[in-house]
Amino acid sequence: MKVRVRRSGEKNGIDLFQVPAVENQWTVMDVLDYIALNLDPSLGYYRHSVCNQGVCGRCGVKVNGRPVLACTSKVQGEDILLEPLNNRVIRDLIVEP
Ligand code: FES
Repeated sequence: MKVRVRRSGEKNGIDLFQVPAVENQWTVMDVLDYIALNLDPSLGYYRHSVCNQGVCGRCGVKVNGRPVLACTSKVQGEDILLEPLNNRVIRDLIVEP
């Protein structure tokens, strides 16, 4: 799966990652974890100290323009674009609450 991620700061722009995600099985959070663990540890997203169960609401991102919770939303398609929500961006996919 091709995953494009909108970055901010030094990496300003859109980065492209190739991720071996399984459609309808991997969550968006699984994809972000894979990128952070295997491809680019500098990726900014909410991961630690959050619930990972769709409760806290801190992991919101936009997938192909649609706001979702990364921890509960399954990936679909061959090509996805991940962007921060419309709140003020702190870094990459991390926004102010
Ligand atoms: S991590 Fe809490 S809602 Fe996703």
